[in-house]
Amino acid sequence: MSLTREQGKTIGLVPTMGALHEGHLSLIAKAKNECDVVVVSIFVNPTQFGAGEDFDRYPRDFEKDRLLLERSEVDYLFYPSTEEIYPVGEMIEFKLPSDLLDWGCAKSRPGHFEGVVRVCAKLFNIITPHKVYFGQKDYQQAVIVKSLISDLDFGIEMKICPTVREVDGLAMSSRNRGLSREGREKAKMIYKALQARDSSILDGLDVEYWEERDGVLLIAVKIDGVRLIDNIVL
Ligand code: PAJ
Repeated sequence: MSLTREQGKTIGLVPTMGALHEGHLSLIAKAKNECDVVVVSIFVNPTQFGAGEDFDRYPRDFEKDRLLLERSEVDYLFYPSTEEIYPVGEMIEFKLPSDLLDWGCAKSRPGHFEGVVRVCAKLFNIITPHKVYFGQKDYQQAVIVKSLISDLDFGIEMKICPTVREVDGLAMSSRNRGLSREGREKAKMIYKALQARDSSILDGLDVEYWEERDGVLLIAVKIDGVRLIDNIVL
């Protein structure tokens, strides 16, 4: 990538964990629009999954992803092995400030955002992008990565892109594939509740949190053992 940089070309990076859907493709389309060279990474990052979370069950569909990326005319796919990203050895510990962690997903997923920060720092150093593209759906992740970029002077411009939804409003997610037909029906109530600002619409569901932060209403719900998150700007 250093040659590309020297040639004065703008490099855009879209980090993903694969099982690509329209949400990911919207980030790619925006990157294609704004950058000369677009890199997509696919890496199911073990350090951001806690014990008992869905690392093993996380959907993986490399051949389909590769085809979608080819069709989207992505310039480079970065698809490293776990050993490439995490060679055996000691890891430097990350400690995030408490104002990034005392809300949202961080409360129930200890270590998750430290893992996200770890892998993003590595991807940013490996790919050396000028711009990176993240989704509003994972709002807290976007806030934390933005803070990583400014705090450690990565000199990268961060673009946060709107949440892409199914026709009935459910935010697209690789994890939606794990829902039963019945669960999928229940899941559409999440966005309805956010739009109505009314959590009682979700009575009977396993709501992990429903909270407001800096003018954003955030929610996490477990349906069929699948953890779904969404948010709406108030
Ligand atoms: P993943 O869940 O694959 O998401 C990759 C990117 O796509 C994230 O920035 C996410 O916010 C965005 N995205 C997901 N669903 C979206 C939707 N419906 N609309 C718009 N954008 C959407 O987030 C991760 O992977 C990982 O934590 C990662 C950043 C790659 C680090 O491992």
